[in-house]
Amino acid sequence: MTAGQADLPEGTTIVGIESTCDETGCAVVVDGRRVLSSVVASQIELHARFGGVVPEIASRAHLEAINTVIGRALREAGIDPAGVAAVAVCNRPGLIGSLLVGLMAAKTLAWVWEVPLIGVDHVHAHAYSPALDDEPIAYPAVALVASGGHTSLYHCRSPVDIELLGATADDAAGEAFDKVAAILKLGFPGGPAVDRAARKGNPDAVKFPRALLKGQSLDFSFSGLKTAVLYHVNGVPGAIRQGVHKGVAELSAQDVADVAASFQAALVDTLQIKLRRAAKATGAKTLVLGGGVAANSALRKAVEKLAAKLGASLRLPAMEYCVDNAAMTAGLGYHLLAAGKTDNLELAATATVRR
Ligand code: KG4
Ligand code: ZN
Repeated sequence: MTAGQADLPEGTTIVGIESTCDETGCAVVVDGRRVLSSVVASQIELHARFGGVVPEIASRAHLEAINTVIGRALREAGIDPAGVAAVAVCNRPGLIGSLLVGLMAAKTLAWVWEVPLIGVDHVHAHAYSPALDDEPIAYPAVALVASGGHTSLYHCRSPVDIELLGATADDAAGEAFDKVAAILKLGFPGGPAVDRAARKGNPDAVKFPRALLKGQSLDFSFSGLKTAVLYHVNGVPGAIRQGVHKGVAELSAQDVADVAASFQAALVDTLQIKLRRAAKATGAKTLVLGGGVAANSALRKAVEKLAAKLGASLRLPAMEYCVDNAAMTAGLGYHLLAAGKTDNLELAATATVRR
């Protein structure tokens, strides 16, 4: 327990709401870790034909889903709303229209139930996700959150005392996976598709660049890697338009697998090297992974090896808590409540935070 924290009574129940991007989530979590229910409505099918998330479609879909998702989460948890201690909601960062839907729903519940409203940072919530349905995280820890929107390295002294050590200068890791999957015509979302294709490929087949490895930088940059894959597959700019190159159609299935594996190796290498640097710089003995890319099989393996080498303990989220969910929101909300960090009904949504 850190300074300023109050002891919350056993059985403290928090309702969490998530709507930052393209998943509508509601969860009920007791004492910050025991997940009674976690309902997620995914919009993947709505966005798939556009090859990425369309903000307007996302906010409308949240609006259509949110009441059903909340109702299901409360029913599945089997709780009496009178026993809810607070409502936690991810109010930053994310797509502004999407954020507003979850925030308004959370405000309504907090107002009707007359309980505190807690604004939660979505990326910090990812860094807490391995504690769900599991043991508490031992702090201090270094956390790497790699998702569709973020690649961030943190020094966490507690669930709520979090310092940003580094972030991406351009594309997020998950975004790079999605774009490379589009180049290779593997479908959307790209992460799982590249992960699958890479299993049959040779990670040393193509030497793709690893950016920002010089010096001690803890920041990331993946747009150069993405462009290198684009040129490798499609030839020089304009080649497809001029009819001198057929792009991925010129590659065999094995070539595609090799490019996927080589891209994944370059990206995972970079993540692993920065995580090692951060662990050494902070002396933290716990490594934490979070975000959609934490589901990547090569990254999980690389980080397991790293933890063993450093003699550090590794905390990986369960698969269902890698991608966006509201259990992590409610979980972190518990610690914010304990630290007295609550908000009122004037809480605003913030689209961009340097994370
Ligand atoms: O955390 P998340 O659900 O959403 C954001 O907060 O952005 O992450 C979604 C991202 C997508 O870019 C998706 O392609 C990626 O996580 N992802 C993966 C894998 N599963 C999901 N990336 C690599 N390998 C995977 N197995
Ligand atoms: Zn996320």
